[in-house]
Amino acid sequence: MIVVSAASGGLGRLVVDHLLARRPASHIAVAVRTPERVADLAARGVQVRRGDYDEPDTLRTAFEGADRLLLISSPELDPGRRIRQHQAALDAARAADVGAVAYTSFLDADTRSDGVTAAHHATEHALKASGLPHTVLRHPFYSEGFLRPALQHALHAAELRDATEGRGLNTASRADLAEAAARVLSEDDHVGRAYDFTGTLWTYPELAQALTRVSGRPVAHCVRHVPAPGVQGWLEGQIRAGALERQTDDLARVLHRPPAALQETLTQLLAEIPVT
Ligand SMILES: NC(=O)c1ccc[n+]([C@@H]2O[C@H](COP(=O)([O-])OP(=O)(O)OC[C@H]3O[C@@H](n4cnc5c(N)ncnc54)[C@H](OP(=O)(O)O)[C@@H]3O)[C@@H](O)[C@H]2O)c1
Repeated sequence: MIVVSAASGGLGRLVVDHLLARRPASHIAVAVRTPERVADLAARGVQVRRGDYDEPDTLRTAFEGADRLLLISSPELDPGRRIRQHQAALDAARAADVGAVAYTSFLDADTRSDGVTAAHHATEHALKASGLPHTVLRHPFYSEGFLRPALQHALHAAELRDATEGRGLNTASRADLAEAAARVLSEDDHVGRAYDFTGTLWTYPELAQALTRVSGRPVAHCVRHVPAPGVQGWLEGQIRAGALERQTDDLARVLHRPPAALQETLTQLLAEIPVT
């Protein structure tokens, strides 16, 4: 039995789709906070169990009988609470005698314990300390998180503005990361490994060109001299410092193919987004 936690989210749903292509539905279960949100999965024969990271008692039953568990990290923003949620899930996995755990961590969380990696760093330590056989899947930023808003704005305004000074950022599509997770859960040789997944390295001028090609509408690239507010400003600072340019071939090795190119992901997103 393979159990996927937080499976009602964007990543989890894609993982379950890939698992259903590889295994009978009766060998797949999801542990979710809100079972009503995955009625469609129940209709496809997937076992639906209630598992809330804030209610440790629900997790033990939710993980029962799992040969493999995919622990999808919580979206909780407070690092302390997020660490407690992940620790509760690991305690439950031990109590339920789960065969092996795959955990969706973040790139560089093995060496960095600040900012976005804080909770992942602590969870990787907790995973090691648990004694559970495991695989660490370190994710980069999801392409969709950058491309979807940029696409909507750029096609509306016919321009793309940024303050990243031409530096690159490496992102991967959730679809590729989901397929990689499904492979890790259903193939034999991944336990005991840690993967540093990266996808495609791109720059904002390249994104403007790719948008023009894919949409058939001209999108000009412009330099923005005023820093963006909030999280976007912080991210642009990271990009300018070159912190997001890391490239590895771990994702390609697990997928047995190159990760999706920028243009491919844009084409998929354009098909989903109504453009006026
Ligand atoms: N690498 C990146 O760029 C990036 C970006 C965003 C997020 N992430 C991380 O990757 C994870 C998966 O991403 P995603 O796109 O699938 O996120 P998502 O679509 O926002 O889904 C989040 C999932 O977490 C579940 N959840 C929230 N609180 C929970 C709790 N207390 N107990 C159990 N489940 C809970 C949600 O369940 P409900 O349906 O009940 O709300 C939902 O299934 C996120 O949770 C976050 O840790 C990474």
